[in-house]
Amino acid sequence: MKENLRKRAIEVLDANFQEGGFTIPSKGLYPFQWKWDSGFIAIGFAHYDVEKAKTEIHSLLDAQWENGFIPHIVFHSDNDSYFPGPDFHQSELHPLSSKKYRSTGMTQPPVTGFVLQEMYRIAEDKEDMLAFIKEHIDRVYDNHVYFYGNRDPYNEGLVYIYHNWESGTDNSPVWDDIWSTMNPPEYTFERRDTTHVDASQRPTKREYDHYLYLIDIAKEYNYDDARIAELSPFLVQDPLFNAMLIKSNEALMELYRIIGGNEDKIKVLNLWQIKSIENFNTKLFDDELGAYIHFDLRNNKPIRFVSSSSFSPLFANIPDPERAVILVKTMMERFGGDDKYLCASFDPTNERFNPKKYWRGPVWINMNWVLYYGLKNYRFNEIAERVKQDSIALIERDGFFEYFDCRKDSGESQRTGYGGNNFSWSAALLLDLLKD
Ligand code: DGY
Repeated sequence: MKENLRKRAIEVLDANFQEGGFTIPSKGLYPFQWKWDSGFIAIGFAHYDVEKAKTEIHSLLDAQWENGFIPHIVFHSDNDSYFPGPDFHQSELHPLSSKKYRSTGMTQPPVTGFVLQEMYRIAEDKEDMLAFIKEHIDRVYDNHVYFYGNRDPYNEGLVYIYHNWESGTDNSPVWDDIWSTMNPPEYTFERRDTTHVDASQRPTKREYDHYLYLIDIAKEYNYDDARIAELSPFLVQDPLFNAMLIKSNEALMELYRIIGGNEDKIKVLNLWQIKSIENFNTKLFDDELGAYIHFDLRNNKPIRFVSSSSFSPLFANIPDPERAVILVKTMMERFGGDDKYLCASFDPTNERFNPKKYWRGPVWINMNWVLYYGLKNYRFNEIAERVKQDSIALIERDGFFEYFDCRKDSGESQRTGYGGNNFSWSAALLLDLLKD
């Protein structure tokens, strides 16, 4: 059974690998290279085809801008089956954007640092992998310099995102209150996602108006970070995004120590780390909810919802052990009932929860992977094991889908895996979870 799943996962990944040296998340729906997908995909490849893992990261970093920024989508081709494509995003408006690739002018969670560390751990030939890491690690470091230098206007060690697509949790109910502060025009455009996937599983047209409007505002300022920080109606400190950055800081420090001779960079990383973890714990924890939450920097107020992002700080060793206990209690009480697979992407006890719709409730394998290692960090081994077994069970139940209904008995007669099928990171991270 396990062997069969492994084989299928490898088939999915290999089929999504493109001649240009990158891997699409899913045929049709996502025909380019996405930043955080790419990182998770490289972890999967590292288990059976190290060269592809390296190629994946190399091609992502090849699209880095001169200011260290790494875009959320690299448009390797002119594929018009996706909207909004390169002509809408117009990354060339930014004077330091890549001259080699067109891309978006927004980013995605900074996973690349800890991905390099995972690749090193998995690799059998450590020397060979270290040579690769030596060649690429400074670009990831430069990406962190970009974040702390341009996305942290109050010098808190907490960076902001200016678009919901930067969070990775695209249409989370967490953003609903921000949408209600905006009134974008009604755009006329042809949706492409809903030609690949049932509209009931995707964001609404009105949500897309907000997404497009935020891009138009950023374009008006030629993607200038300072202007965006001043004027974007969406400006959020996201716990998942910052936890990924902190985890990647830690990974870069460890890798630089292994490489040797990078004391200056280790010192800088360590200073960021101390400040980030401290302010993360004071600013982004909500005692009443017993969970980490988002902070709306534009409207200067916390956004008080529990989502799977709330638990991601476990992965980056952010809470102290007592707080970790509180966090896991919240997770089990709200998300962990026997009738559910762990872990829904949004609070199942909240009225905004929707078990079928993109980031408004379904289980995502990448978040489960983050939670699995996070729970293990704090020795919640039994719950970690449940997250792992639930992930395997969902893929066995439905296939390698993009997201899954968390309900064990959904009352549906059809399959309850949603979004893109043969989805790369579901396959890649399953390979990692199956390794022992
Ligand atoms: C989409 O098109 O929904 C993507 O996830 C944006 O990153």
